[in-house]
Amino acid sequence: MLDRVESLMQSYVSELSNQYVEELFCKLPNGKRLRAKLVLKIAGTGEEALRLAAIIEMIHAASLLHDDVIDDADTRRGVASLNATEGSKQAVMMGDILYSKGFEELVAFERGLAAKVASAVTQLSIGEMMDVELSKKFNTDSEAYMQMIYQKTAALIEATAAASAMLAGKESRIYAIYGRNLGIAFQIIDDILDITQSSEQLGKPAMHDFEEGKCTLPYIYLYEAIDESGKARLKSLHAKKLSEDEKGWILAAMQETGALRKAYLYAKELGDEAVSLMESEGENSLADIVTAMIERNF
Ligand code: FPP
Ligand code: MG
Repeated sequence: MLDRVESLMQSYVSELSNQYVEELFCKLPNGKRLRAKLVLKIAGTGEEALRLAAIIEMIHAASLLHDDVIDDADTRRGVASLNATEGSKQAVMMGDILYSKGFEELVAFERGLAAKVASAVTQLSIGEMMDVELSKKFNTDSEAYMQMIYQKTAALIEATAAASAMLAGKESRIYAIYGRNLGIAFQIIDDILDITQSSEQLGKPAMHDFEEGKCTLPYIYLYEAIDESGKARLKSLHAKKLSEDEKGWILAAMQETGALRKAYLYAKELGDEAVSLMESEGENSLADIVTAMIERNF
C-alpha cells in the first residue's frame, strides 16, 4: 500500500507541471515513511487515508529539506542532500513547494482535521527554531531538550495519529498520546544512534550533533554523571570538529557512566507506554511499530 502513497505524492508533484521540480523530487530518498505507515494502520487504505498519508509525507520531506540546510548536512540517508547537489537556495524552495502543495491538498479535508495537521507544522517549525537556539550554548537542561524534541519531531507524529483516528472514527485522544510517545522516543533513539553508530550505518557523519552544538539527552546525562575535569573536557569539545580520539573518549565515557543506557531506558519507557496503550485497543501492528523503532540500529 505504501507504493500507492508514493505514486500519489508523485502525481501531486506532476500536477505542478514543472520538470525541474519533478526531477528534484525523484532525487529525494524515500526514508522510512513512518508517518504514512501510521496513517494507513490507523485509518485503513481508503482514498482519503492515502491522500492524508501522501500530504503528511510531503510536509515531512519539506521539513527535512529545510533541516539539512539549517544543519549544514551534506548527506541524507546515505545520498548527497539536495542542498549539497543543488545549493541551499533550491533546497529551501523545493521544501516550500512540497509544503505548500501539501497544504493545498490538506484544505480539502474536514476543518478540524486540517487544523490539527496545520498547527503541528507550526509546532515543528518552532521546535526547529528552539533546536537552533539551544545549540548556540552548551545546554544541560533536559527539560528544554524534551520540550524541543516534542515540538520538532513528536508534534507532527502526534497529529498524524490523531488525524488518522479522526478519519477512521476512532478516539483521537488515545492515538494522540500514542503518537506523542512514539515521536519523543523516536527522536531520543535518533540522537543515541548519532553517537553509537558508524557514519556508514547512519548515512551521515557520526557525532555530528555535538559538533553542530546539539547537546542531546546522552550528553546531558553524561555531563550530570562525570567529575569536574570531565565536565570541563566535555564543554571544551562542544560545537567543534572532533578528532577520532575525542569521539572515542566521549563514547567510552557515555558507556562507563551509563549515560547512553539511561537515555535508551527513557525512550523505552515512553515506548512501552505506547505499546500497552495500543495493545489495550487491540492495535497490535501499531504496538509493533514502536518496538521496531526502539530496537532499530539506523
Ligand atoms: C530533523 O531533526 C528535523 C525535524 C524533525 C523538523 C524540521 C523542521 C523544520 C526545518 C521546520 C520547517 C518546516 C516545514 C514544513 C518547511 P534532526 O536534525 O535532529 O534529524 P536528522 O538527523 O534526521 O537531520
Ligand atoms: Mg538534521
